[in-house]
Amino acid sequence: MKKIAVLTSGGDAPGMNAAVRAVVRKAIFEGLEVAGIYNGYQGLIEGKIENMELGSVGDIIQRGGTMLRSARCPEFRTVEGRDKAVEQIKAQGIEGLVVIGGDGSFKGAYELTKLGIPCVCVPATIDNDINGTEFTIGFDTALNTIIEAIDKIRDTATSHERTFIIEVMGRDAGDLALWAGLAGGAETILIPEEKYDIDDIVERLASGTGRGKKHSIIIVAEGVMSANELANILRETADIDIRYSVLGHVQRGGSPSVRDRVIASQFGSRAVEVLLTGQGGKAIGMQKHQVIDYNLEDVFTDDHDIDMKMYKLSQELSI
Ligand code: ADP
Ligand code: F6P
Repeated sequence: MKKIAVLTSGGDAPGMNAAVRAVVRKAIFEGLEVAGIYNGYQGLIEGKIENMELGSVGDIIQRGGTMLRSARCPEFRTVEGRDKAVEQIKAQGIEGLVVIGGDGSFKGAYELTKLGIPCVCVPATIDNDINGTEFTIGFDTALNTIIEAIDKIRDTATSHERTFIIEVMGRDAGDLALWAGLAGGAETILIPEEKYDIDDIVERLASGTGRGKKHSIIIVAEGVMSANELANILRETADIDIRYSVLGHVQRGGSPSVRDRVIASQFGSRAVEVLLTGQGGKAIGMQKHQVIDYNLEDVFTDDHDIDMKMYKLSQELSI
């Protein structure tokens, strides 16, 4: 293998830049040529490809977002779109591809691998919802952003003796809500993976007030319902002074945490090592503090599981 390429795709995540840097530097260290593909699969189809040097990825390890830009590309879901991508790859002499993104991007990489282009995938999404890896790049930074917001909201919630609902991202996955809720001492955490009961929420709020609590924090993942909807339901059910806050895309930005920079560096480097063995159709991940590689099929077979022990713990500690 003489030349590889790297792209970022899907929802961006803090630490993607650190992963791009690791891929480029590791490839050059191993004597490979390396190209950067701009705007994900869209840029691949359009041939937005540039050769990268050591300096191309200087001064980016600390930056959020992705210097390669990201995109969602409906055309790549079609056979014709993917054929155009393969043509571009061949025209550029690229023999392997590192795809940095979420599970949608991984599906695209799987299709490309089936067309004879070995792809290795690096998990990067704030949602932490990729099967086979305990952590994805961006999750830790997003959690730190959420915690900062919870702590600030707690100040004003206490001053006014209010209940606050904080809506976090996660359409299908509750990891952000669960981890942030546990770390932020939330009274109630609503996640897409678990049923909720409005009467139970109201009871918990009342019991907190009964023992003199000055405020309550409820974390809701966007996939359950909007914070506004939940506030209306609670107001109809009980006489509660309630406010809400939607954190939105602020969770996707910001300088990556130490943890995200470190795993991004490890994952990016390992992806190049796997490509060098000639293997495609692989994902990189973390299990029990070890960087691992595994088959992309294993990402798609199961539904993403929530850590139920952690969910129970959050309930036990917020009585
Ligand atoms: P993420 O990677 O963050 O999960 P998306 O689900 O939007 O984000 O996927 C990113 C891109 O990956 C899509 O816009 C599309 O180009 C490509 N993709 C997703 N699913 C498939 C699929 N089943 N086949 C081919 N390409 C796909
Ligand atoms: O997948 C990451 C994520 O941030 C989700 O948590 C969120 O629902 C979604 O992306 C929003 O994506 P966008 O606004 O880019 O369409």
